[in-house]
Amino acid sequence: MERTQVGIIGAGPAGLLLSHLLALAGIESVVVELRSRQHCEQRQRAGLLEAGTVATLRDAGLAKRLDVEGIEHGGIYLQYAGERHHLDFRDLVDRTVTIYAQTEIVKDLIAARLAAGQRIDFSITDTSVSDVDSSRPVLRYVDEAGAARAVECDVIAGCDGFHGISRAAVPDVVAYERAYPFSWLGIIADVAPSTDELIYAHHPDGFALHSVRTPHVSRLYLQVPAGEAIGSWSDERIWENLQKRFALPGWTLREGPIREKAITPMRSFVSTPMRYGRLFLAGDAAHIVPPTGAKGLNLAVSDVALLAPALVAWLRDGDPSLADTYPERALRRVWRATHFSWWMTQMLHAVPGDAFNTQLQLSQLRYVTASRPAAVTLAENYTGSAPA
Ligand code: APR
Ligand code: PHB
Repeated sequence: MERTQVGIIGAGPAGLLLSHLLALAGIESVVVELRSRQHCEQRQRAGLLEAGTVATLRDAGLAKRLDVEGIEHGGIYLQYAGERHHLDFRDLVDRTVTIYAQTEIVKDLIAARLAAGQRIDFSITDTSVSDVDSSRPVLRYVDEAGAARAVECDVIAGCDGFHGISRAAVPDVVAYERAYPFSWLGIIADVAPSTDELIYAHHPDGFALHSVRTPHVSRLYLQVPAGEAIGSWSDERIWENLQKRFALPGWTLREGPIREKAITPMRSFVSTPMRYGRLFLAGDAAHIVPPTGAKGLNLAVSDVALLAPALVAWLRDGDPSLADTYPERALRRVWRATHFSWWMTQMLHAVPGDAFNTQLQLSQLRYVTASRPAAVTLAENYTGSAPA
């Protein structure tokens, strides 16, 4: 039997950042990951960081590339009824957000962990945890070479995303869930963004979002019905729909080759408690938000920013009090982000046949763009400065 202080399941942003923060405080960990390194580094995910997320990465010495390549945005555009309105976050809440793709953060984290001599076991199978209610929980898996491994830990961190195994090891779970009748079709296109800041567009045909990745790469999304197959969306059909939903006199949406396209279902999901015995959950393993509020990655980072010092205080200094209150403190932020993501989602997505809903959405959008207090409410939630 091998031994470590913290066994970490999952090499996404949550697991990798946790390992890094623990190492900075002298706590050792083992990270195990189902997928290959290449797969983890290439998966296209979110890309919008709250200032607090940037600060966490910077304080951990992880922002060398982020500080050069990240693109700071001081607001967003909300488009509806043929008008485009700007919300100025600097003016409203003195905050900004930063565009830097999750996949780049994962690359930076993996590089940093390996440079520090950390072992990350990629391409493993058969992950399981046992004895999490004892003082010696065990993490088991089969490594890439096919060897069965068992690691005795002080603590196990389930950072294995929504489809992981950790959550199932928590008994008596109470889960809260909302499914939405639509999905997002996301593309990455090799074309300079047609906008300086993100455009969230309400349209009778469905929501659309223009995001950016780099000065030469655009990220765009279209609302499509839940269960839609990507095969029925040719590149031509995608651009045609994007053109229609973003259309504004005097403004042009530039088109370019589509490098990737995929459809992601949308749901809100919160699983409680986030701890059982010596098993702690963080990130998507415990909660999922629809992407409209751009909170998924930021929540994974804010969970870990609470969990790492809690584990350090317990394992290094013998003080379990922060670990005891971790679930409660993390869930307050989780629920704030869950509410905000749900609110943005229901304000912006078309519900076919529900004309009453459309009128409520338009009224809400007019209010948010005309009332400073309403705009501040959106801005402090979007930028992550809302008290939880
Ligand atoms: N054993 C080991 N690893 C596993 C297992 C398993 N049984 N199951 C899943 N994993 C791995 C996945 O392959 C993935 O690399 O756990 C990792 C979880 O990473 P993420 O899904 O990125 O979750 P998290 O680190 O919490 O980050 C949340 O990711 O999904 C986005 O929008 C979400 O931006 C948010 C962020
Ligand atoms: C993204 O850039 O991928 C992105 C940005 C904002 C969102 C969702 C996704 O609300």
